[in-house]
Amino acid sequence: MVPTQHDKTGMALVLTGTTLLVLGTAALILTSPVPTLFAWHPSLNALALALFAIGISVVQPPTPPSTVRAQRLDAHKSVLGLAVILLCAGTTFMYYNKEANGSAHGTTPHGGAGYIVVTWMLVQAIIGGVAANTGKNGLWLYKWHRLSGYLFMTLALFTAFAGGLLTTWSQTRPAPLRIVAYGIGIPLIAAGVAMRMHTSKLPFGKRHA
Ligand code: HEM
Repeated sequence: MVPTQHDKTGMALVLTGTTLLVLGTAALILTSPVPTLFAWHPSLNALALALFAIGISVVQPPTPPSTVRAQRLDAHKSVLGLAVILLCAGTTFMYYNKEANGSAHGTTPHGGAGYIVVTWMLVQAIIGGVAANTGKNGLWLYKWHRLSGYLFMTLALFTAFAGGLLTTWSQTRPAPLRIVAYGIGIPLIAAGVAMRMHTSKLPFGKRHA
């Protein structure tokens, strides 16, 4: 099946949104005197989120010929594997930044949601790995992996939105940069991923003829 114009528009939204998110976050950090430990947190986590969106997007359109499908699955695994490492690293920097300042952990909606996101991500990666290694028997598991992946992505986008727009630190930073990165970039990513989603590939979706 060839990607439709709808799928292509979705990809364009994902790429525009991820560019705004990553460049906007870099600009926020580079124009701000922040401790090094802290600086890595938004930078690595925004990059990880961008890679999640792109790594999901490549496997969204309906099943292509088997060789193309295998290439896309490889890209999905590599890009998301890197994203997992970056999100763990970015969150670890934040953990140690708090330790360095003697601050309590997970006290804000952003911080609490952030730890759920990291845990969910690890479970999601394990389920994907199991599904990939169980051949045809794992097909039903893939459907749940997809559904769980979309719920994960929703929470991860919300978490970054809260980190960039609602945390005390972020509110001391220039509003135009924050709006572009999180107020525009994140909704564009959400819209793009949603547009490329095919409900027939989910557990309760109806298969098209
Ligand atoms: C999906 C992406 C993100 C995840 C999973 C995440 C995760 C976390 C976690 C777990 C904490 C709490 C650390 C602790 O209490 O020990 C935290 C804190 C923080 N994060 Fe993020 N973060 C993400 C993106 C961002 C972004 C994009 C920004 C800023 C632009 C940001 C800014 C902050 C700030 C300022 C804090 C300290 C205040 C607080 O604890 O809420 N984060 N993050």
